[in-house]
Amino acid sequence: MPDPRFEDTVAVVTGAASGIGRETALQFAREGARVVVADVNEGGGAETVRLVAEAGGAAVFERCDVSDAGEVAALVDGAVEHWGRIDAMINNAGVGGLRAPTADYPDHDWEKTLAVNAGGVFYGTKHALRHMVPAGRGSVVNVASVAGIAGFAGSVAYCASKHAAVGVTRAAALEVARTGVTVNAVCPVFTDTPMVDDIKTYDPKLGDTLERRIPVGRLGTVAEIAAAILYLCGPDARFLTGLALPLDGGITA
Ligand code: NAI
Repeated sequence: MPDPRFEDTVAVVTGAASGIGRETALQFAREGARVVVADVNEGGGAETVRLVAEAGGAAVFERCDVSDAGEVAALVDGAVEHWGRIDAMINNAGVGGLRAPTADYPDHDWEKTLAVNAGGVFYGTKHALRHMVPAGRGSVVNVASVAGIAGFAGSVAYCASKHAAVGVTRAAALEVARTGVTVNAVCPVFTDTPMVDDIKTYDPKLGDTLERRIPVGRLGTVAEIAAAILYLCGPDARFLTGLALPLDGGITA
C-alpha cells in the first residue's frame, strides 16, 4: 500500500455539505488529510463529518457563508489555529443562479450569484494565500465550471461568476508562481449532484437533454471531479498552476 498522498496535511473544503464538496472532503480524508468541512448547511455538514469519521478520517465542521469576507478569513485562520497549518484550500461552494434571459435578469439574483460564486472564490483564495505564501507550500483549487470558459444562454450571472473564478485563479497563480504555492481551477460540465437535480426540476426541457449534450453521453460523477481536485493538490502536480482544467466529457473539444 503506497503512502497516503495527504498524510499530515490539512484541507479546507467549502460547500462540503453536499455534492462535489462532500466527495472531495471524503477523498482527502481517505488519503490521510485532516479536513475542515465548511458550509452554510449545518445538517449536511454534520453528515459529511460523520461520513468522514465512518471512513476512518478526521474532520471538523465550520459554518461559513463564503460571500462574507470576514467569515472566510475566520474560517481559514481557524483552520490554521486548530490544525496548525493549511495545505489545500478548495473553494467549491456555489449556487446555480436563476435561469433567465439577460434583458430580464433580476439585479438581485445577479448580485447574489456573483457574491457567492465570485466573492467566495476571491475571499477563499486571498485568505489561503495569506498563510500558504509565507509557509512556501500549498494548493488552491477553485471549482469553476465549463461556464467559466464558454457561454451558456440563460445563465448570465452564473457564467459571469464562473469566468470571474477563472480570472481570480489565473491572476493569483501568476502572483505566487515562485513561492511553491499553486492556484488552479477545475471546470466541470453537468455533474450528478443536487445542483443538477434542481435544473431537472425547474427546467425539465433543459434537464432532459443534459446527457445528450455531453459527447461521452453521460453526466460527470462527483468521484471524477474530486479525483481531479486531489491530483491538483498532490505531489505530482507541482508544475501545474494557473490552469482552468475542463472536466467535461468532451463538450469544449
Ligand atoms: P451542491 O448544491 O450539491 O453543493 C453546493 C454546496 O455549496 C451546498 O452544500 C451549499 O449549501 C453550499 N453553499 C451554497 N452557498 C453557500 C455559501 N454562501 N456559503 C457556503 N456554502 C454555500 O452543488 P455541487 O454540484 O456539488 O456544486 C459544487 C460546485 O461545483 C459549485 O461551485 C458549482 O457551481 C460547481 N459546478 C457544479 C456542476 C454540476 O453540474 N453539479 C457543474 C460545474 C460546476
